[in-house]
Amino acid sequence: MIDNREHSRGPRRGQAAHQLKSRTLRYAHIIGWGMEVPSQVLSNTDLEAIVDTNDDWIMTRTGIKERRIAEQRETTTSLATRAAQKALAIADVLPSEIDLIIVATATPEHMFPSTASLVQDYLGANTAGAFDMSAACSGFVYGLDMAASKIQTGAINTAVIIGAETLSRVVDWADRGTCILFGDGAGAVVIRGSDTPGGILSSVLRSDGAGWDLLTLPTNGSRDTYLQDGKHEMHRIYMDGRGVYRFATKVIGESVRDALAQVGMEPDDIDLLIPHQANQRIIDYAAKNLKLPPEKVYSNIERYGNTSAATIPIALAEALDENRIKTGDTLAFVGFGGGLSWAAMIIEWTAVPGKSQYSITWGRRQGEYALAGVRRPLRRWWRQLILLSPTTWIAALRKALADRRADIQTRAEDIQHRASQIIDRDEKRNRSAKEDEE
Ligand code: UT7
Repeated sequence: MIDNREHSRGPRRGQAAHQLKSRTLRYAHIIGWGMEVPSQVLSNTDLEAIVDTNDDWIMTRTGIKERRIAEQRETTTSLATRAAQKALAIADVLPSEIDLIIVATATPEHMFPSTASLVQDYLGANTAGAFDMSAACSGFVYGLDMAASKIQTGAINTAVIIGAETLSRVVDWADRGTCILFGDGAGAVVIRGSDTPGGILSSVLRSDGAGWDLLTLPTNGSRDTYLQDGKHEMHRIYMDGRGVYRFATKVIGESVRDALAQVGMEPDDIDLLIPHQANQRIIDYAAKNLKLPPEKVYSNIERYGNTSAATIPIALAEALDENRIKTGDTLAFVGFGGGLSWAAMIIEWTAVPGKSQYSITWGRRQGEYALAGVRRPLRRWWRQLILLSPTTWIAALRKALADRRADIQTRAEDIQHRASQIIDRDEKRNRSAKEDEE
């Protein structure tokens, strides 16, 4: 059993985990979890006003009743940051203790910078590396596997892995085959190294790029022929629903069995399966395939729809809130989606939930968030003003001097011009006075 408290002392700032421990394999444990969804709800009945659909069709074919839609001010970054802050609070970990941040997302704010870099800045995690993981709906399991591997080798000690999406911004709201499925939200976990066995036990990552066109979200690098076929549009999701359905039902059971086999387990050993929430019929099929009773399979698709990379961490956070997970349980995660890609993972649950958030660390964490808010504008200002190179300074000075010289020259010429005008005028006056006298 892992007490979160055992992990709250990370390595000192800038001190790599491998400097503290010899390079024997360690264990990566989930010690914090959190989720954030927008408050705006879009129900099936609301959708009836947008496309030709109805609540009965959506419920029967997908199991979705409603989904959350981000408001204008909400972004993938803001949802991800909030979910990460909640996970850090449960783990009782400071931003300054984080070594790595991975954001799995198909809806980043930019191709670069990564959403993870923005989250790193908002958290004030000043000694963390950060990158985005692009593996569509399998991204969270891929990211968790990458971070866990770095912890297991002793290269890092603490990581935050987030699945975050604002799919409502890339959904084709005229396509009833896809717009009824997707929603927005984020979920996060904090993982930390320990010598106590347990945590992330095994994983299977797979891809089949030959099925790339079954589920796509083209962007500005997409091949022209694809975007000019009259069917596809940039920054819009396209899905061959039946094709993806067939693929998903084929790979879920296989990959979970493969991940179990790595640690000598059988489907019967699973206490809770947390599958990607894409369609209730797919979830039911997975349960049947693995011969798991409904109480061993978690689903919250009814309330959030498909939030792509965010479904598994959101489901994990809710399952913990509902006391569906206890210490010592064996969990299985399985994700699948665009790529085509899929991934399964087996976890021995070791965390002890329910610690007070109002510890000394809570105050320090709030302090680090506040400092991050102050640091952001200061660093930008510093970069713009102070960190200009000496050559840039000299060039700017030379230009200012040249401008001043040109200005003086123009003014001198102007004065000279006006003086000659006055002299000319006076000469003219004198001449006409003389002529008058004569
Ligand atoms: O996270 C990414 C992974 N994505 C998935 O896992 C999605 C996998 N696929 C699916 O979940 C299902 O294929 C869908 C839910 C997308 C579609 O369900 P389906 O049972 O495969 O329906 P379908 O596409 O075969 O369409 C059946 C009928 C069609 O009408 P006809 O041709 O039989 O007259 C559709 O036009 O249902 C019609 N239809 C709808 N009717 C009412 C399609 N969408 C709708 C709709 N409302 N929203």
